[in-house]
Amino acid sequence: MGARVETQVADNPLHGLALEEDLDIRDPLRHYMGIESSDSTVVQSYSMLPEQQYSVQNDLIKLPLGQRSDTPEIVLTLAISAREGCGGVAWPAGQVLADYLIEKGSDFLKGKTILELGSGTGLVGLAAAILGGHVWITDQAPLLDIMRRNVILNDLSQEVTVAELDWGLPIPESIPKPDIILAADCVYFEPAFPLLVKTLTDLSDTSTEILFCYKKRRKADKRFFVLLKKAFTWTEVLDDPARSIYSRDAISLLRLVKR
Ligand SMILES: C[S@@+](CC[C@H](N)C(=O)[O-])C[C@H]1O[C@@H](n2cnc3c(N)ncnc32)[C@H](O)[C@@H]1O
Repeated sequence: MGARVETQVADNPLHGLALEEDLDIRDPLRHYMGIESSDSTVVQSYSMLPEQQYSVQNDLIKLPLGQRSDTPEIVLTLAISAREGCGGVAWPAGQVLADYLIEKGSDFLKGKTILELGSGTGLVGLAAAILGGHVWITDQAPLLDIMRRNVILNDLSQEVTVAELDWGLPIPESIPKPDIILAADCVYFEPAFPLLVKTLTDLSDTSTEILFCYKKRRKADKRFFVLLKKAFTWTEVLDDPARSIYSRDAISLLRLVKR
């Protein structure tokens, strides 16, 4: 446990879930940094992702995707930098979702309007664009520069648009209604749970395909699914050959359908 959180726990009059929530508000990134209070499980990374220091600034990684399928491998070049927040590095659920898109192949994405929420480095959306989608990668303002850089580094300026999209706020008029919504590793900060559900609701109708990849880190995550249930049903994606590998890392890939 990190010294900073140790102090926060020791001085804190709260216990259990209330303590977890209080620590989340003080430091929303603590679950990602492997800094946990004593009753939580420390984060393990998905095994295929290149090692990234979570203090990294202005680094480049090569991220090979689709290695587990018979389809051609895609290698993304990604600028990473944690200075912009947790989205500035690539996360395991993003790799799982990108690998699944490659597994599905370009017939699934070709010609479709695809919108990724909480894109971070943009890795999922960039893979979707290489597979033939018209892609919008979106995030909060501090991530936009790194996303733009990654679009250029992968020569995808024709296929990918970068846009600011803050969950819970009205959808900007410039953003089109997507055929497919993608989201990876977006469940981690409890105050954002209702905002993410609102944005998913605003962007979709009953025919929108939504692929939602999620890594379970703590009990409080279930509150996200309590909110989600009011507007969506979901099923686990079963046709992914890599499922038995990533489910050992508590990662699930879900297909959401609006009620
Ligand atoms: C753990 S990162 C995942 C990044 C990327 N999807 C991946 O898998 O590598 C979570 C992302 O959600 C974004 N995010 C968090 N709260 C948000 C909000 N209120 N509106 C828009 N994006 C948000 C963060 O900026 C970050 O990029």
